[in-house]
Amino acid sequence: MAWFETWFDTPYYHILYKNRDFTEAEKFITLLVNYLEIPKDSKIIDLACGKGRHSVFLNKLGYKVLGVDLSKESIFHNKQIENSNLKFEVHDMRKELFPKISTQKVEAVFNLFTSFGYFDLEKDDRSVFRSVSNVLKEEGIFVLDFLNQQWIRNTLEAEYETKKGNIDFLIRKKIEGEHIIKDIFFSDKGKKHHYFEKVKLHTLEEMENYAQEFGFERVAIFGNYDLGKFELQKSPRCISIFRKKPEQL
Ligand SMILES: C[S@@+](CC[C@H](N)C(=O)[O-])C[C@H]1O[C@@H](n2cnc3c(N)ncnc32)[C@H](O)[C@@H]1O
Repeated sequence: MAWFETWFDTPYYHILYKNRDFTEAEKFITLLVNYLEIPKDSKIIDLACGKGRHSVFLNKLGYKVLGVDLSKESIFHNKQIENSNLKFEVHDMRKELFPKISTQKVEAVFNLFTSFGYFDLEKDDRSVFRSVSNVLKEEGIFVLDFLNQQWIRNTLEAEYETKKGNIDFLIRKKIEGEHIIKDIFFSDKGKKHHYFEKVKLHTLEEMENYAQEFGFERVAIFGNYDLGKFELQKSPRCISIFRKKPEQL
């Protein structure tokens, strides 16, 4: 099994990242939807929604939200907070969303907090862009909130320890070729664990090329969760706002 099929399904992923919480998500989503001016009542897909922190808030703001994720555990948890305008489904982002998962085309798709760059094959990356393009209405918006590979290269902290709850995590990071690899070591209840995350350091140009190939144009790019200016050397994030171009007749 690939690393992303197991690690995100464990409780330990949620323990390690528990400071990336609902408050952070609400602040970012508020800024994002104000900027995008997406009309209330629009349909939005939260692609790789995890435990649904962005989905829940989007729904509170009045949007019809479908959150999808590969993690059965996360979706099982999220199913308990569904309502008529907030739904969750297990779904692999490499597969088509429309019309099986979302029976209608939508105004926006959000892929947030580095939920891309996991796949070894370019064809899988392409499948994500193709599926997003196919599920969007014309002029629909695709937000791809990815790491800034240059900032990762500039600021890599090779090793550190962090305590979350009762668990001491040892984190080792390295760049291998085109990937950032984060090894995660810890013990729990007397048992040693080792997981890792491996994310492809996609450049701005690579993502732009995928976007163009599937009919998108980039309308904005931000460098952090405050929607600050993107600066290649200094920005921690690379948040691309793509718009699906109307089809040429
Ligand atoms: C870094 S987490 C972000 C979760 C959520 N967007 C957030 O901000 O809390 C990445 C998510 O991608 C999901 N994921 C990984 N591979 C996936 C795939 N092939 N299709 C759909 N979701 C996937 C994981 O299960 C995990 O929930």
